Amino acid sequence: MSEGAAKKEERRKFQAIKGTRDILPPETALWNRVEQTAHEVFATFGFGEIRLPIIEETELFARAVGGETDIVSKEMYGFPKKLEILRRATTDQIDRVDHPSKIHMFAQSLAILVLNLEQALNSSAIPTTESNRHVIEQLKKISEQTIVLWRSLSWEPSREWTEHFETARKLIKNLQIERLEESSSLRPEATAGICRAYIENNMQQLPQPVKLYCIGPMFRRERPQKGRYRQFYQIDAEVLEAVRKEVASGEWRVASKELAKDAAVDAEVIEMVMTLFDKLELQGVQLAINSIGDRNCRPKYVELLRAELSKTNPLRVLDSKLESEQKIIEKLPRIGDHLCEDCAAHYAAVKRELDLRGVKYHENWRLVRGLDYYMRTTFEITAKGLGSQNAVCGGGRYDGLMELLGGPPTKGIGFAIGEDRLILSLLETGHSPLATRHSPLLYIAWMGEKAYATAIRAAKNLRNAGFPVELPPVEQKFGKALGQADKLGARFALILGDNEVSSGEWTLKTLADGSQAKFTEPDLLEHLKKQL
Ligand code: HAM
Repeated sequence: MSEGAAKKEERRKFQAIKGTRDILPPETALWNRVEQTAHEVFATFGFGEIRLPIIEETELFARAVGGETDIVSKEMYGFPKKLEILRRATTDQIDRVDHPSKIHMFAQSLAILVLNLEQALNSSAIPTTESNRHVIEQLKKISEQTIVLWRSLSWEPSREWTEHFETARKLIKNLQIERLEESSSLRPEATAGICRAYIENNMQQLPQPVKLYCIGPMFRRERPQKGRYRQFYQIDAEVLEAVRKEVASGEWRVASKELAKDAAVDAEVIEMVMTLFDKLELQGVQLAINSIGDRNCRPKYVELLRAELSKTNPLRVLDSKLESEQKIIEKLPRIGDHLCEDCAAHYAAVKRELDLRGVKYHENWRLVRGLDYYMRTTFEITAKGLGSQNAVCGGGRYDGLMELLGGPPTKGIGFAIGEDRLILSLLETGHSPLATRHSPLLYIAWMGEKAYATAIRAAKNLRNAGFPVELPPVEQKFGKALGQADKLGARFALILGDNEVSSGEWTLKTLADGSQAKFTEPDLLEHLKKQL
């Protein structure tokens, strides 16, 4: 780097990383109000808050959300373990060996990888299986051959050595070390973590169902745009219910009762999020629902779609917004016409249950969602003022996911609200964050040493009584103090000078009309209480 460039770099201002942002006051007050309302509404439905780690094993998300989904295959922020980093470094090095002079880099990198693998094996960091041992042996041999090659100064590219590199490259790229890739990732969503926590904390032993919610940041490396960020916030809620043996075995006697119960739970969860949106006065709320069947009927439907489309992932096509594809999509078979008996009964019951609760919805047979764990109910809620990223909430049922993660047979249904979009919609439809701004109620205009001590005591007592108070840390002329009080939006100024301190009668000025009145300290508290 040139000296000039280095200087420029030194003076560079830091900026938030692409797709992340600061959320500032007064907007944060709106965020708090939204979260507070969620706490209150969810409590009335019997939900308890769970706080989860932001980082989990990558494999958890791969298994739950699906290894082939965009979220897992393209958008996760991962931290591979040291061995994986070494493997990647070695692969990079071998790709660069296009000349004898570069062989030492690869030889060194490979030797380090082998050394670390051996250490990991000896300390049981990776399992001491036959196949792990075998792979490490092979790598070691290649490593030794490479070192010999490096030392033989007379090396000229030859067929023999081209083959050597080909073998090495293949071996390292396909290195199948069990549990080598156990890495961690920032969570792209909360459902997988909640299921992991349910299993790990034996929540199947609690009274069922277990109702949990979680508020916090999620991370996806998506292309940022309005309403789409790389760090975004979700308000996520889940109902989890470990099922009894006769339910797990699909006994026919219990089946219809279970379907009716599940439908009621689905509808209640949807009712809960709609209640929250209602309380928040979210505008233009539209609920779309669908059933995507279960492992009985969905594979057959997917086959049918595949036959129509002869593409690899036909379900995602339904999501297409491309104008040119709409005509084709309209003519495709619809899942609703291909649901099995149970799924059809369940879906009909969900709609009945929503009607009973007065929840308005429309059906959208193309609502398939981008995560693999869903079955039967899926739903999405859109709101006003959001442009193309208008889904403020998405959710659905995911019976069977828990077993995929090593847990007991468990049913699950839940949703996640995109909090950023919820706030954006509230702001765009006229919910001023200023309405929730924390202006001081009272500004203390003090002058003189003695008055300062009284002002500190007064501020403490008033704050303890719950009044927002601004206490300037330095003396100000009264005129300046009143100007400042006005700027901050205070309703009152408490004037404390020598006279007030010695008489014990404090002057309260109402800033809107300039009127003044005198109060003793206890009377002032009473007066302010009446003003609120
Ligand atoms: P999701 O549809 O991937 O579902 O996300 C839910 C909501 O999070 C979306 O509707 C959207 O409002 C918000 N969201 C997603 N990605 C972004 C982003 N990059 N920027 C801003 N907001 C975003 C899930 O995450 C499931 N875990 C929901 C669920 C819970 N299903 C069952 N339980």
